[in-house]
Amino acid sequence: MAAPDLMDKLVSLTKRRGYIFQSSEIYGGTGSVWDYGPLGVELKRNLKDRWWRAMVHERDDVEGLDAAILMHPSVWEASGHVEGFTDPLVECSNCHRRFRADLPEVDGGQCPTCGTRDAFSEPRLFNLMFKTFMGPVEDAAATIYLRPETAQGIYVNFLNIQGTARQRVPFGIAQIGKAFRNEITPGNFIFRTREFEQAEMQFFVKPGDDEEWFERWKAERMAWHEGLGIRSTKLRFHEHGPDELAHYAKNAFDIEYEFPFGWKEFEGIHNRTDFDLARHQERSGKRLEYIDPASNERFVPYVVETSMGVDRTLLVLLADAYREEEVEGETRVVLGLQPQLAPLKVGVFPLVKKDGLPELAIKLHEGLRKAAIPSFYDAAGAIGRRYRRQDEVGTPWCVTVDGQTSEDGTVTIRDRDTLEQVRVGADQVVTWVRDRLG
Ligand code: GAP
Repeated sequence: MAAPDLMDKLVSLTKRRGYIFQSSEIYGGTGSVWDYGPLGVELKRNLKDRWWRAMVHERDDVEGLDAAILMHPSVWEASGHVEGFTDPLVECSNCHRRFRADLPEVDGGQCPTCGTRDAFSEPRLFNLMFKTFMGPVEDAAATIYLRPETAQGIYVNFLNIQGTARQRVPFGIAQIGKAFRNEITPGNFIFRTREFEQAEMQFFVKPGDDEEWFERWKAERMAWHEGLGIRSTKLRFHEHGPDELAHYAKNAFDIEYEFPFGWKEFEGIHNRTDFDLARHQERSGKRLEYIDPASNERFVPYVVETSMGVDRTLLVLLADAYREEEVEGETRVVLGLQPQLAPLKVGVFPLVKKDGLPELAIKLHEGLRKAAIPSFYDAAGAIGRRYRRQDEVGTPWCVTVDGQTSEDGTVTIRDRDTLEQVRVGADQVVTWVRDRLG
């Protein structure tokens, strides 16, 4: 499948099947902002829950946090974002569209929109933070920002959490939340948007231990992505060169995926040193040191950060899972999502709409829902079409109630990937599915 073709197919499938809609579509849409529909929100929740489980619940050395989006404006001065969170912007003097100066097309001197050559203005720096006002007075003193990363909420809570959770360095703080960037050139569907979610973890270590922890977290995060079922041939690390490093980073590696539009980052692992804590300490006048209880040594910890874009990882999951196959002369579209991630786990169908089969199927469907297994009841159309509808949204199993069910209480379970069918007692379906979800 040609690469851009795959993106078009994903945009169309996710819209048609209730995964992702353009924001405010009835008004013509909002630039690069997307809404997650019934299936999209489930996939996103499953992804975030998986991250939270690995990063917080399964570890003794990471605590969770849910900090507010709006923070004291001094946070962004201390963090360097007011001064340095900028992209170079150029404007085409013919069509007046604005672009990031570092786009390859722009670098070549040709306007990506109108095609005019050498009509760009000199680059100027554009701050990506969204600004608004706190309270009823719209003046400079009331200026406040929508956070461009969730990390700062963690730094300002470092001592609150260390003290209340009685953690000792090394330990980490994790949170998932919205971030906002007024991107000059957003695009590629949910890849680069102006409102997105991050799943970030800041790991506080003794200076000198940072490089070892950096390597550990790199390995850990790559293994986690592979554990989601993403093909490892499509994953790689990219080390930041000196000109790519963010203003806070001493060392950084991206985890990249080979998207239809090329290899691109969807998670960053950064060695942020003591940059952020030291700057907050200086600016707030509050000590942000850790005192080692064994040695009484005082230090401002170094930070190793793992920063995953939730929406971008969701795009990775969709792009990696999409496939088309020929089955009995027909094209079958499948989202081969890992069952644990799939929004729906089971489709339940009566083979025909008579002989009491719908009632039996509804009972089974309701039993699954009560057992917290997302199930979808479908009695509309030919059975083959019902299978295809579930394949397309990634449902791993379809259960069919047929004539034999009334006789011996068994149903068929059909596997999305192998297309194999097994007969199982209707009263065993919940256990059968649970066993496979792990
Ligand atoms: N706290 C560090 C930080 O924010 P980053 O590399 O700027 O680092 C981390 O962002 C991740 O956030 C990226 O790897 C990406 O997945 C996601 N991200 C950043 N900007 C984004 C955007 N405009 N749209 C969607 N996701 C974005």
